[in-house]
Amino acid sequence: MNKQEIIKRVTKRVMRELGDEGSGHDWWHVHRVWKMAKRIGQEESADMFVVELAALLHDIADWKFHGGDDNVGARAARKLLSKQGVHKEIIDHVCEIIRTAPFKGAGVRTKMQTLEGKVVQDADRLDAIGAIGFARAFAYGGYRNQPIYNPNQKPVLHQSKAAYLKGRSPTINHFFEKLLLLKDRMNTKTAKKVSRERHRFMEKYLNRFFKEWKGEL
Ligand code: ADP
Ligand code: NI
Repeated sequence: MNKQEIIKRVTKRVMRELGDEGSGHDWWHVHRVWKMAKRIGQEESADMFVVELAALLHDIADWKFHGGDDNVGARAARKLLSKQGVHKEIIDHVCEIIRTAPFKGAGVRTKMQTLEGKVVQDADRLDAIGAIGFARAFAYGGYRNQPIYNPNQKPVLHQSKAAYLKGRSPTINHFFEKLLLLKDRMNTKTAKKVSRERHRFMEKYLNRFFKEWKGEL
C-alpha cells in the first residue's frame, strides 16, 4: 500500500472513531491539527508521512480520560498502524510523538525529541489558543462541569501530571495555567509567529472579560 492510501485509510478510521464528541477532541480538532501540521511541517522540511500520521492519530485515545495512563494513545495507534502494514520504525516514531506531545501541567517537561514531534506538538498547541482555544476551553469546562470563573480561586501552576489531572479549576484559570504559557513553548519558527497573533487575541479577550465581570463595560 502506498503512503497516500495509508493516510486515507487512517483518516477514515479516525473520523469514525472520534466523530462529534463534546470535550473538544472531536474529528474537527484533529482535522485542524492535521492541516496546521502539514503547513508547519512543509515549512520546516519534516518527514511528512510521520507528521501526518502522528497528527491524525494524536488524540485517538486520551491519557486524561484513562486515569493518567499516557501510553493509551500510543497503544491504540500502534494497533491501527500495524494493521495497515506500516514499517516498525515509522510506527515507533509516531507512537513516541503521541506519548510525549500532550501538555501535562505548567511545570512538567514535555520536550519533543524529533523535528516531526515538534511540528505536531506545535500544531496541537496552536489549536488550544486564540478564538478556537476559547471555544475548546469552554466546551471542555462544561463537559467537566467546571465553573466559568470564580474570583476566589487563584490559578495553580501544576508541577506534576497527577496534580494537573486532578485539578478542577474554573475555565478562566485554565488560560493562566496553560493557554497563556503556550506562546513561549512553541518549537518551530512558523508556530511561534502564528501563536503571537493568537496570544494577543486571548489577552484582549481576557481584558474585556474582567472589565465586564466588574461591570465596567
Ligand atoms: P490537546 O488536544 O491540545 O492536547 P488537551 O487534551 O489538554 O489538549 O485538552 C483539550 C482541550 O481542552 C484544549 O483546548 C485544552 O486547552 C482544554 N482543556 C484542558 N483542560 C482544561 C481545563 N481544566 N479547563 C478548560 N479547558 C481545558
Ligand atoms: Ni489534540
